[in-house]
Amino acid sequence: MVFFFVNFRDSKKAVQQITYTMENQDWKKIGFGYRKANFNVRCTYKNGEWGDLELNDSEYINMHMAATSLHYGQEAFEGLKAFMGKDGKIRIFRMDENAKRMQSSCDGILMPRLPIEKFQEAVKLAVEKNKDFVPPYGSGASLYIRPLLIGTGPEIGVKPAGEYLFIIFVMPVGPYFPEGFKPTDLLIMRKFDRAAPQGTGKYKVGGNYAASLTAGKKAKSEGYSAVLYLDSREKKFIDECGPANFFGIKNETYITPESDSILPSITNKSLMQIAKDLGLKVECRKVPVEELETFEEVGACGTAAVISPIKRIYDDDLDKEYNYGTEPGPWSTKLYEKLRAIQDGDAPDPYGWVAVID
Ligand code: PLP
Ligand code: COI
Repeated sequence: MVFFFVNFRDSKKAVQQITYTMENQDWKKIGFGYRKANFNVRCTYKNGEWGDLELNDSEYINMHMAATSLHYGQEAFEGLKAFMGKDGKIRIFRMDENAKRMQSSCDGILMPRLPIEKFQEAVKLAVEKNKDFVPPYGSGASLYIRPLLIGTGPEIGVKPAGEYLFIIFVMPVGPYFPEGFKPTDLLIMRKFDRAAPQGTGKYKVGGNYAASLTAGKKAKSEGYSAVLYLDSREKKFIDECGPANFFGIKNETYITPESDSILPSITNKSLMQIAKDLGLKVECRKVPVEELETFEEVGACGTAAVISPIKRIYDDDLDKEYNYGTEPGPWSTKLYEKLRAIQDGDAPDPYGWVAVID
C-alpha cells in the first residue's frame, strides 16, 4: 500500500506530497523520525473547559502569534507506543500513565489538566483512525503516539494563556538510537545542564529539550548517542541520559537514579516491576558517578529508546572511561525481551498495562 499525502491547505498551489510505503518497508532502517499519518485528533480549551475531540487531516495549526507556547514555552508533550500483535490486534502500552504524567506537566507549567479519560479516548481514536500505519508484528518497529498540549491564547506579559490546544498525532518508528538493541556510547560533560535542581526536569515540557540541544549536538558530533547528565547542583550523582532514564545492574540488583530533575519514565517504572518479577532486587536511589565503575551492565530506557544497552561512558572532564562490553548483558536482554513480549501480546500482561484495540 502506498499513501500519498496532500497538504490540503496548499493543495491549490502545489501538491506537497510525502510518500512512504507500509508494504515492503525496510523496518530495520525506518529510524525515529516524523512521518505523516492520515489523521490527528484535537481538542481545544476555551472559557474554562475542554471541548469535544475532533479529527483533523492537516499537519498544520493556525494560532495567534502571541500564543504563550511560542513565547514562554507553555507546552507539554508525551510519547507512547502501539504495537501490532501476532493476533492482528493493536496494543497500546500504559496510556493511563502518560495521561497522568501529562497532568503533572500541566500542573508544573500552569496549564489546565486534560481529563485522563479524554486523553485515553483521544489516543484510542488516533490509533484507530491510523490503523494502517501500525508496523507489522515482528518488524521491530511500532506506532509512536505523540500527544501535545500547548498554550494558544495570546499573552505578552509572562502569565498562563486562557486558551489551549491538545493534539495527538502518530507515526511509524524504529528505535530512537539507531543501534537499536545494540550497545551504544554516552558522554558525560559537566558544563551543560538540562534542568535546574528545582526546575522543570520532572515535567515533559519543551524547555528541557531546548536546553539539551547544544550538549546533545556536541555529543553526537563526537560519536556518542547521548549525554549522560549529572545532577545540576553538585555534579556528583547520575541524573538521566538525554531522552531516556538510566539504569545499572550489579549483584543481581537493578539500580536507577532517584532525582527531582529527571522525567519519571514509564518504561523505567515497568522495568523495575519486570526486574522484581525476574528475581532482581530493585533500588531507586541516588547513584554517585563513581558507582559507574562497579556496574556489570548499564542501559538507557524510555518509550522511544526502549532499552538501549550502553557499552562505554566517557567522562569528558575527568578523561575517564567506563566500559561494559560490546554485547547486551544477560539481564538487559531478559528485561528487554520481557518488556517487548508484553507490549506485543506474546507474554501475559499481569498488571493490565496494555489496552487492546480490536
Ligand atoms: N527521560 C526523558 C528526558 C525523556 O524524554 C523520556 C522519554 O519520554 C524518558 C526519560 C523516558 O520516559 P518514558 O519511559 O516514559 O518514555
Ligand atoms: C519518548 O521516549 O517518548 C520521548 O519522548 C523521547 C523523545 C524526546 C524523542
